[in-house]
Amino acid sequence: MAHDVARLLLSPPHSAALRELASRAVAETTGDRLHRLALLGQELPIGLRRALVDFRLTGGAGLVIGGLPLHDADLGASPPVATETPRHDELARADAMLLLVASFLGYPVSQAGVDGGRLVRDISPAPGHEATQLGSSSSAELMWHTEDAFHPLRPDWVCLLCLRNPDRTATSLAPIDDVPLDDRTRAVLFEPRFLIRPDSSNSADWQPHPVPVLTGDRQRPFVRIDPAFMTGNPADPEAAAALATLVEAVGGRLRDVPLAPGEILLIDNFRSVHGRRPFTARYDGRDRWLRTVCATADLRRSEGLRTGRAIGVLP
Ligand SMILES: [Fe+2]
Repeated sequence: MAHDVARLLLSPPHSAALRELASRAVAETTGDRLHRLALLGQELPIGLRRALVDFRLTGGAGLVIGGLPLHDADLGASPPVATETPRHDELARADAMLLLVASFLGYPVSQAGVDGGRLVRDISPAPGHEATQLGSSSSAELMWHTEDAFHPLRPDWVCLLCLRNPDRTATSLAPIDDVPLDDRTRAVLFEPRFLIRPDSSNSADWQPHPVPVLTGDRQRPFVRIDPAFMTGNPADPEAAAALATLVEAVGGRLRDVPLAPGEILLIDNFRSVHGRRPFTARYDGRDRWLRTVCATADLRRSEGLRTGRAIGVLP
């Protein structure tokens, strides 16, 4: 079954309405910000709300929302490193648009071990990180993965807002439904025979225990996989072979989504894997720059494990 990435282009009136809503979100400073954003999200343009409900219910490969009103000149320079708070009103407004969408889809959350638990993070190239498997890499392909694959409470959705992308560097995406698997490989992947470590952006102290790569419906499974942070178990060659088969099959199904400024890509983190193609960083303040936030469908599952919205690891 081939899935396409759905696209929604906001009309000029809806685009203006979103900007107005984001401005209100930035201006209101009393009480809990995420509570306010969740309430304001109910006032998003109806076409956008319908698309988000549709995406939430059907779990398509991904959804691109285009036509977000951003004023590039007011965003400031693309950061060389992650920053704590929005540095300009325009960036605060951009973050509010991203959080309004994420808050309608689910509940924004972060990982306590990544960037100190920061909720909205920068994705931009950093000097010295070029060839790593960090989001701040560039010349190396960021190997496709499930976000926070190691974590039992990994997010349901990854939301990426593109602020700049001068070379149209593609985010890569593959829905697991599209990946052909023989019955034996599928059966092995459903068994708890795989170890997933935290990725190198996460400082969590975590001893992996065996988990299945596929769960849920046999024919339409959920996936959790991060090949760059999984090692084959020499004592279990069948599991290692099944993983290798899946990795190769996913590689053949990856599609490129080159985001443009003013586009949000929503990724179903249970049904799709994502990565990023290589590119050459410039370090001139105009580099590829995304803002990202994750969202969960169920905030209650992490109750007691969270500080604010930052989810820690299970004891
Ligand atoms: Fe990711």
